[in-house]
Amino acid sequence: MARLDLQSLTRSFGPTRAVDAVSFSVPSGAFLALLGPSGCGKTTLLRLIAGLEQPDGGRIDIGGHQVAGPGGFVPPEARGLGMVFQSYALWPHMTVAGNIRFGLRLRGLSRAQEAARIADSLSMVGLAGLDQRRPHELSGGQRQRVALARSLATRPALLLLDEPLANLDAHLRGVMLAEFRRLHAALGTTFVFVTHDQDEAMAVASHVGVMNAGRLEQLAAPETLYRQPATPMVARFVGGGRTVPVDVLDASGGACRISLQGRVLTVPGAAPRGPGWLCLRPRDLSPAPDGPILARVVDSQFRAGAWAVSALLDAGGETLVDLTLPHAPQREEALALRLTGGWVLPRDGLAIAPRPESIPA
Ligand SMILES: Nc1ncnc2c1ncn2[C@@H]1O[C@H](COP(=O)(O)OP(=O)(O)O)[C@@H](O)[C@H]1O
Ligand SMILES: [Mg+2]
Repeated sequence: MARLDLQSLTRSFGPTRAVDAVSFSVPSGAFLALLGPSGCGKTTLLRLIAGLEQPDGGRIDIGGHQVAGPGGFVPPEARGLGMVFQSYALWPHMTVAGNIRFGLRLRGLSRAQEAARIADSLSMVGLAGLDQRRPHELSGGQRQRVALARSLATRPALLLLDEPLANLDAHLRGVMLAEFRRLHAALGTTFVFVTHDQDEAMAVASHVGVMNAGRLEQLAAPETLYRQPATPMVARFVGGGRTVPVDVLDASGGACRISLQGRVLTVPGAAPRGPGWLCLRPRDLSPAPDGPILARVVDSQFRAGAWAVSALLDAGGETLVDLTLPHAPQREEALALRLTGGWVLPRDGLAIAPRPESIPA
């Protein structure tokens, strides 16, 4: 159990700022997911926390002790953390027990203590009795459990997981997500879980940090990311959102009056007067005979028992929105829509949340 604090952490590879001035704090025992598209810097950030990379600038504190920054550099093995990778990284020639014992070397444990740790950690991940198998005699899910057991056997204060489920099928991913939650609740260890899959992030973590091009766009509870995105990128990335250009007329009491297609609408949000984005999820629009928003169907697919429809806003040029209909629409059908949700942001990047971001303890 250790808190984790990052301050202006930066790491470049040539011209690429893989991690760009990232700051955040997570309290001891938190379950944080870092979410973002491929190449946004998630692995680099995790490797910096682990001590497998050195930062160009900024600092990292684990459990209140600086491990990287102006004051020096603590090597990975002295940071008290465990790491689980997508590739499992098991030694193929060693048994399950051998792999876990390898993770415990240099810890000054007796043979008996090692054996107890191995048995404990295998039973924690539901693999008791498989200690003499070799990795090729295990399924993908079992291998990932061995990798997890190897990390847990060291009793880390902080567990870093880099896309640990990417090689598993959808069913096993669901099983392992539930397993991570159970282990997190049982151990109280601080978890940092990296994924490009928002469903995974939302399912498993109490807080999610969304990354884009090396930067942290927003760190918040899943519901806040969904309902109150801080940036247009978060609005589009999370929950299949669309952003519609609008004029904000004025704002007060957590709502904005906006002009869209010549109509004035009141929508939750916090944008000053001027150009804005109206962030819309499929469930924020529904058909209504005298609905103020006019759109034309461009595509529809039958999904999860209803029709997922994409439509062009008539007066919005090329602006697409999505909604769900109970029946199949006609191609090019004209829709009158009413707003049942939505969130307004300022147009010009003003909404990047203040840093550093923190999870409340
Ligand atoms: N060792 C490296 N050498 C050069 N470029 C790297 C290296 N590691 C990562 N990068 C670059 O840094 C960026 C972030 O990569 P990465 O942290 O792996 O992203 P993610 O894990 O989110 O997919 C990418 O543009 C990637 O190509
Ligand atoms: Mg990665």
